[in-house]
Amino acid sequence: MHVGVRAEITVPGGASVPLVPVAGVGVRADHTRRGVLTSLMRAQLTEAAERGDVMAALHASETAIYGRFGYGVGTRAQSPVVRGSHAKIHPDMPAEGGVRLLDVEQAVARLPELYQRIGPHRPAMMTRPEEWWHDKIIRRLRTVSSLLVVVHNGPDGDDGYAVYRPKSDSSLDERRLAVSLEVEDMHAGSLAALAGLWRYLLGIDLVGEVRTWARPTDEPVETFLADPRAYRSGDVQDETWQRILDVPRALAARDYGDAEPVVVEIVDPLLDSNSGRYLIGPSAVERTDAAAQLRLGVDVLSMIYFGTYRPSILGAVGRIEVLEAAAPARADRLFGTDRAAWCGTAY
Ligand SMILES: CC(C)(COP(=O)(O)OP(=O)(O)OC[C@H]1O[C@@H](n2cnc3c(N)ncnc32)[C@H](O)[C@@H]1OP(=O)(O)O)[C@@H](O)C(=O)NCCC(=O)NCCS
Repeated sequence: MHVGVRAEITVPGGASVPLVPVAGVGVRADHTRRGVLTSLMRAQLTEAAERGDVMAALHASETAIYGRFGYGVGTRAQSPVVRGSHAKIHPDMPAEGGVRLLDVEQAVARLPELYQRIGPHRPAMMTRPEEWWHDKIIRRLRTVSSLLVVVHNGPDGDDGYAVYRPKSDSSLDERRLAVSLEVEDMHAGSLAALAGLWRYLLGIDLVGEVRTWARPTDEPVETFLADPRAYRSGDVQDETWQRILDVPRALAARDYGDAEPVVVEIVDPLLDSNSGRYLIGPSAVERTDAAAQLRLGVDVLSMIYFGTYRPSILGAVGRIEVLEAAAPARADRLFGTDRAAWCGTAY
């Protein structure tokens, strides 16, 4: 198991806190089921918390593993596909700005700065370390000749980009339209920029389908289209699992909706200093001796922290212990967010 270089993660309200992106979790096949992962996780999470990191996050290839270590689903994502042969842009959609393709070295020079400027604007988005750019984008751009980069420019300059790859696709039966576009990375600073990128992708000749991966659950791409059925949203699944390492700092860092405070008891068997009761309200978060109104594990805190799941639902299905009947509705308003949380960075 290795710890990716450190980064920052955006929390609801726009502040950011230190993040440990965790990747490459694995134990030698001849040493599994002897507690090796458990020891590694304990050591890693304890060290990261002592070092001052506030959150750890990972993409889980198996979902059964991480809850026991205090990770919970912090973000969800879907992988929409738009059928190009039917997908005309709706005539009412404004056509603002323009697009241009970058060559490889222009992209290498431009994308990291553009992402940082427009990027971490949703809850759970993260800064992308230089190493990430090198491993995931730059090296591929220099070796995969079919990978293309398009940039959108709006009234204030460049405001979005897409990294995509045309792929011949025999499953698209209309012979004339036997190409799909696979969008590997796409970020836009506004809906107009996102729509501009889609207008470009869907306008490319001979494209049967545009496929995307792990997009935000609230991106309104079907509203860009004349025929909304050209859009298929794909399954919604867990995207990232978050582990809150420093509960007081994490709770204090985010904004809350307008509601009466709730007393929430957090249970964290692994990092015990997080355990305790917190009075959470729009103007302050503080530790308290008052009786708990909601009780939840630190894994479940990640599920509500970014607004991805509603406390009232988790209370109704038993993931949150409800000790005061009115508390879940207040917690819904406190923890709710305007935009769906999304990481948008695979590591
Ligand atoms: C998954 C993996 C890291 C687990 O390592 P490990 O050292 O065997 O794990 P541990 O012995 O510490 O097991 C801890 C607990 O998790 C459970 N567990 C481990 N792997 C599991 C899995 N794949 N599915 C469900 N439960 C699992 C164990 O049963 C154990 O439960 P218990 O505490 O109730 O007994 C290891 O099997 C591995 O490297 N697999 C291949 C790579 C992989 O799948 N990595 C995950 C990437 S997200």
